[in-house]
Amino acid sequence: MSQADSFYTLVTGASSGIGRAIAVRLSQSRKIILHGRNKTKLEETRRLCHGEGHVIWTCDLAQVENLQADFESFVVQSGCRIESFVHCAGMVYLTAIKTIDLPSYRRILDTNSTSAILLLGSLMKRRIAGASMKSVVFVSSIAATQATRGKSLYGASKGILNSFVRASAVELAPNVRINSVCPAAVHTEMADDVFHDPEAVAAMNRRHPLGTGKPDDVAGVVAFLLSEDARWITGSQVMVDGGASCDLTFK
Ligand SMILES: NC(=O)c1ccc[n+]([C@@H]2O[C@H](COP(=O)([O-])OP(=O)(O)OC[C@H]3O[C@@H](n4cnc5c(N)ncnc54)[C@H](OP(=O)(O)O)[C@@H]3O)[C@@H](O)[C@H]2O)c1
Repeated sequence: MSQADSFYTLVTGASSGIGRAIAVRLSQSRKIILHGRNKTKLEETRRLCHGEGHVIWTCDLAQVENLQADFESFVVQSGCRIESFVHCAGMVYLTAIKTIDLPSYRRILDTNSTSAILLLGSLMKRRIAGASMKSVVFVSSIAATQATRGKSLYGASKGILNSFVRASAVELAPNVRINSVCPAAVHTEMADDVFHDPEAVAAMNRRHPLGTGKPDDVAGVVAFLLSEDARWITGSQVMVDGGASCDLTFK
């Protein structure tokens, strides 16, 4: 079967953590465009995926000036017909507000949110994927809705995703559905330091009624939101947080 005979799902940030789990999970029933910067780790994800025909696209999402041109030429050259898009790539940046400067502001917003919006813009063009697109999920964060000291920029970058999802759900209906998921603490490379600190782990477990999460806990929800079972859900931000956002108990 050639690329042109099957439909693809683009997963950004598929080289590790939650994005890798999403790619592996979706590969049970879909062909995947595995995106990241680290080719070796993307090859590893491809080995973990089910089935054949998954392709790799490497690109630094912080370089937004050339992003749409690079992506559109990849799509045309690869011949992949894309029907769904999961934006999972992201970086966390802890900073005191007084130390924020323009380069750090741009890097986190460009990586976490601008890139997602630009890629979706390209995908909606008829000659890129506009006619075949069906569903989109952005991986946001509980940090978009609940505050943590030092995460003002990170939270803002994820809040953009949630707002964009609500407005674009209206514009893209009925052909394309778009939703976001908002995970709380998930054990991945991004959160590795915290998960190696026993005191921090105990505090996180007190904060999450169902305990902290694993990448597969998010992947299952993303697979559902992309599927036909979620055909009446669009513009939603789904908390995937072990109950953390409901728990105000003083502990
Ligand atoms: N872990 C958590 O507790 C948690 C909680 C809430 C939300 N999230 C969100 O979930 C998503 C995945 O996080 P994770 O925990 O799985 O982190 P991770 O293991 O560090 O993975 C981050 C992914 O993003 C990619 N990435 C980062 N910067 C990039 C850039 N400039 N250009 C292209 N790709 C880039 C990385 O690719 P390369 O390594 O190939 O560069 C990697 O695949 C993020 O959006 C994060 O904000 C995570």
